Amino acid sequence: MRQMIMGNWKMHGLRGSGERLAREIAKGADPACVSRDLVIAPPFTLLSSLAPLLSPHGIGLAAQDCHEDPDGAHTGDIAAPMLADLGVSHVILGHSERRQNHHESSALICRKVEAAQKSGLIPVLCVGETEADKAADRVEDVLGRQIEESLPRGFSGIVAYEPVWAIGTGQAATEQDISDRMAFLHAAIARHLETDDKATRILYGGSVKPEDAASILAVPGVGGVLVGGASLTAESFLGIARAGL
Ligand code: G3H
Repeated sequence: MRQMIMGNWKMHGLRGSGERLAREIAKGADPACVSRDLVIAPPFTLLSSLAPLLSPHGIGLAAQDCHEDPDGAHTGDIAAPMLADLGVSHVILGHSERRQNHHESSALICRKVEAAQKSGLIPVLCVGETEADKAADRVEDVLGRQIEESLPRGFSGIVAYEPVWAIGTGQAATEQDISDRMAFLHAAIARHLETDDKATRILYGGSVKPEDAASILAVPGVGGVLVGGASLTAESFLGIARAGL
């Protein structure tokens, strides 16, 4: 299975800086790194201008959220069909920053996943434990519940394992921890979906940097990485995309 390198720009980038960064990434995405699937998730405001810059280079375009309904009276929200209409290929759902800051439940996220799939988008569902979960030794309980409650039957998308304590801290999980969690998640997803153990691609996210990307991407079961801070310069994003090749 091809590995995916996905850059989540979060709430960064104005038109000038965002388009410049997309052009630099597209220009630097040489044949070595396009042996991996590259996807950029800019803020909503940049989706439409980035689509023609990225798609000729085979780079996917992702949104960072969508509403669970296809349309309606939802001031400020964006529906999945609107994203598909712009040429968006993927949508990140259930990121811990939305679970925490917008109080999104796994039940709501499950409906968003279904809405995304219905519109032909590939959902990238995020799961991950907090520092407190880790300290209380309940990591597998938390991850298992997030999988059961956020993944609809018939899910055909990507899962991203992002330990909340590793996001934006500069402290990625250890290779051993990543390997253990991948094994646990592959089994939990297969059980829940009644499918093959390795059928679902699982990304790791949390303080991935160019210097440790090769060892993370070599961990068994890792289907790619979801990168926040280090996706904000072409040099570091492409450094990760080429890591270990
Ligand atoms: O979506 C990306 C993750 O939250 C990781 O962010 O690479 O800045 O730790 P980070």
